[in-house]
This record gives sequence, C-alpha cells and structure tokens, in this order.
Amino acid sequence: MRLQGKVAVITGAASGMGLAMATLFAAEGASVVAGDWNAERLATAVKEIQANGGQIIGLQGNIAEQTAAEGLIDLAISTFGTLDVLCNNAGVMDYMQGVGELTNDIWRKVLGINLDGPMFASRRAVQHMLAHGGGSIVNTASTAGLHGGAAGVAYTASKHALVGLTRNTAWMYAKRGIRCNAICPGATMTNIAESMPQDRLDMTGAQRAGEFAALVPAYLTPADIAALALFLASDESSKINGAIIPADGGWDAV
Ligand SMILES: NC(=O)c1ccc[n+]([C@@H]2O[C@H](COP(=O)([O-])OP(=O)(O)OC[C@H]3O[C@@H](n4cnc5c(N)ncnc54)[C@H](O)[C@@H]3O)[C@@H](O)[C@H]2O)c1
Repeated sequence: MRLQGKVAVITGAASGMGLAMATLFAAEGASVVAGDWNAERLATAVKEIQANGGQIIGLQGNIAEQTAAEGLIDLAISTFGTLDVLCNNAGVMDYMQGVGELTNDIWRKVLGINLDGPMFASRRAVQHMLAHGGGSIVNTASTAGLHGGAAGVAYTASKHALVGLTRNTAWMYAKRGIRCNAICPGATMTNIAESMPQDRLDMTGAQRAGEFAALVPAYLTPADIAALALFLASDESSKINGAIIPADGGWDAV
C-alpha cells in the first residue's frame, strides 16, 4: 500500500476531488482526517470509507477560520500521533466577475477559503513537520492559477496566489524534508458549481470565461485528480518539490 503508516489531512473531503482523495488515501493505508464545512456530506463520506475498512475521522469547520484550519492538523496529531501529508483542497468559485464588477464580499469570501485556509493549515503543518521528519503538502490550485481566462478575478487571483504559496513553501523547506506541490485541475466533474449559483452569475464575465472554457479538450473525474495527489503524497515523488502540475487533458497546452 502506497501510504501505509502515513497520516493525512484532506480539506474539502466531503465531495468531489477531496472525497476521491480521502477514499483512495484510506484504501492505500493512510490514516485520514477529513475536513469539510458540509456536516451531512462529511458524515456520509466518513461512514462509507470506514465501512470499507478505511481509517478516517471527520471534523466539520470553515477552513477560512484559523481555529478550524489549525484544528484539523491538531486532530491528526492528537488522534494518529503525527502528520505526514496535508492536502489543501477545499475551494469555492467566484461569480465570474471582472474587477470592475467585483464586490468586497466575494473577494473576501473566495480569498478566505481558497488562500487563507491553505495558509493557516500549511503553517501549522509545517511547524509540526519540521520537528518530526518532514512531510508532503499537496495544494489543489486550478487552470485559473495559470491562466487569466478561466474564471472571475477573485478565483483567478486566489489560485495564482496558491501557486505562489506552493512555490515559496517548496523553496523555503526544500532542505528540511518538506515538499510542497500543486495540482492544477482543468474542468472536472464535481459539485463545485454549487458555489456559483446561476442567478448570482455575472453574465458578461461568464461569457468571457466561456470563450476560454470552449477550448477544454477533456473533462476529468475526481479519481483522475486523486491519482496524482496520491503520487505527490507518497514517497514515490520524493524528489518532486515546487512542481505546479496541470491535470487538464491538455487545456494548459493551448
Ligand atoms: N471542479 C473543477 O472543475 C475544478 C477545477 C480546478 C480546480 N478546482 C478546485 O478543486 C478543489 C476541489 O473542488 P471540487 O471541484 O472537488 O468541488 P466540490 O464542491 O465537489 O468539493 C469542494 C469541497 O470543499 C468544501 N468546502 C468549500 N468551502 C469550504 C470551507 N470554507 N470550509 C470547509 N470546506 C469547504 C465543500 O463543502 C466541498 O465538499 C477546489 O479547490 C477547486 O477550486 C476544481
């Protein structure tokens, strides 16, 4: 098993890519702390993975809040004794606004969840990993972390910043046993659209993003992304650090 004996925290683990990661990591021998703010879906996910023999516990909370983000790391250490892997995966869309149409509320919400959350969790995780033999951090960025046309300004800025968080973390701790990489998924079939209700969409921005989306060569599944996350979490990728990896069927090649 590729994660035997490892302890992993996965945020946004009740749905989509995070659920696929939690399922796969547990099947590969990891002890998993699953975080999500959707209590009902989280309970269902944890129950199902446990029923299949997986070692997993859930903790409900809003990743944008420092205490909730740190609580996931602390729970992993107090329950399973250590932390080897952190997947900063929870995220929400914006409403496709350009900067001229952006509201402060959306900016703060999207940056809080997509950037503050990973920073809070990474800081706590790195402090533990430095003292306990290192670890691997896997961030779920996006095509919108590499290109300007895939979403609105808040989502795009949050994912570009997450790429920066990834690279800096990789560089800062490269000689001290901590690796940090980012996956940039393309269009993937998940529940992410729930965070972008149709009646809130900025139609002009959505149309402009649609021009870029029209170039999508392939739709991915959450399992496609989880397979890459597993590789980055495991020791198989021990020399891969600071990599920003598109997983998008070729969209980034446009
Ligand atoms: N689906 C795509 O096409 C796509 C493409 C590129 C990047 N991504 C990124 O992939 C990641 C996973 O999203 P997904 O597509 O699996 O969507 P999803 O909505 O299916 O899953 C995201 C999970 O994160 C949780 N979450 C959201 N905000 C949270 C918060 N504040 N606190 C705790 N949990 C929270 C949700 O409840 C949900 O369970 C996100 O970071 C997203 O930005 C998605």
